[in-house]
Amino acid sequence: MSQTYRITLLPGDGIGPEIMAVAVEVLNVVAKQDNLQLEFQTALIGGAAIEATGEPLPAATLEACKQSDGVLLAAIGGYQWDNLPRHLRPETGLLGLRAGLGLFANLRPAAILPQLIDASTLKREVVEGVDMMVVRELTGGVYFGEPKGIFTTETGEKRGVNTMAYTESEIDRIAKVGFETARKRKHKLCSVDKANVLEVSQLWRDRVTAMAKDYPDVELTHMYVDNAAMQLVRAPKQFDTIVTSNLFGDILSDAAAMLTGSIGMLPSASLGSTSLGVFEPVHGSAPDIAGQDQANPLAQVLSAAMLLRYGLNQPAAADRIERSVLKVLDRGYRTGDIMSSGMIPVGCSAMGRVLIEALEQV
Ligand code: IPM
Ligand code: MG
Repeated sequence: MSQTYRITLLPGDGIGPEIMAVAVEVLNVVAKQDNLQLEFQTALIGGAAIEATGEPLPAATLEACKQSDGVLLAAIGGYQWDNLPRHLRPETGLLGLRAGLGLFANLRPAAILPQLIDASTLKREVVEGVDMMVVRELTGGVYFGEPKGIFTTETGEKRGVNTMAYTESEIDRIAKVGFETARKRKHKLCSVDKANVLEVSQLWRDRVTAMAKDYPDVELTHMYVDNAAMQLVRAPKQFDTIVTSNLFGDILSDAAAMLTGSIGMLPSASLGSTSLGVFEPVHGSAPDIAGQDQANPLAQVLSAAMLLRYGLNQPAAADRIERSVLKVLDRGYRTGDIMSSGMIPVGCSAMGRVLIEALEQV
């Protein structure tokens, strides 16, 4: 009897349930092929959880995640919850999940697929060959620093405050993930900060520089975040692995994602110090196309592949999913976000069907 893996599914909001349905079908097919026992449980997060329970991350959801071998998340958020008080917003649920599971490292790969070069908004010669990994710190920095809040000053004026703070140990543990990731890639690490202005970035730079001694085989460079934003669209091929703080990583990973043509293609992994991780697409809940069977499920499917690879240590099954994604692209199937002339338009569930067909052949 093979091992049983418990997987918690968090479909969330917007297009979340549609793309999750495709990913689960795909997982069921590879599980059968590889004789893996996958046991799914679905839990509430984000707006869906607010509607059902009044809070964006019910205790039962966090508990279910903690009891599982891996978490597959789709997307959270929508216009109808944007004006709720902050502690009740869908985003707060996601941040609570990351913090509650101690997931301090977020790996966001951005590689351009030859099949999709023409879907990029940048010129072919700029993006052809782009293959980078953004390692984003996920449980610290300005997202979590104290004090935070909207306070009233002595003159009665309101003042909004967040605090960008990192301790040495927080920097060291993410820097280590950065160096180790670079080691598995092209041995080039670019640490992105704003050390010309921010003290917190100076400490960041000092610690990353100190750690470089332990990784003589990795070439370390530093870049200010404004320059990094410019370089990402000017000459993205210079990057291999980027390590950066929570907010800078949030921003730069969206830019990196878009180099590849569509943010709808990119998966991510959020990892901590145990094997339990959360795997989710980089894109959001796209409420404008929710329920219309138009969403691109491929980032969700590739997140399921990352779950198999990094969470469950099942690289063969992960490989098969990734190969089947390339196969459907080779065959010309495209959702709206990656459409180009001469290709075959499909919706979300039809993309699922051709994927399953391809999976049965790879
Ligand atoms: C992301 C998202 C989240 C973030 C939001 C939804 C809280 O933009 O995962 O990049 O800012 O981290
Ligand atoms: Mg983001």
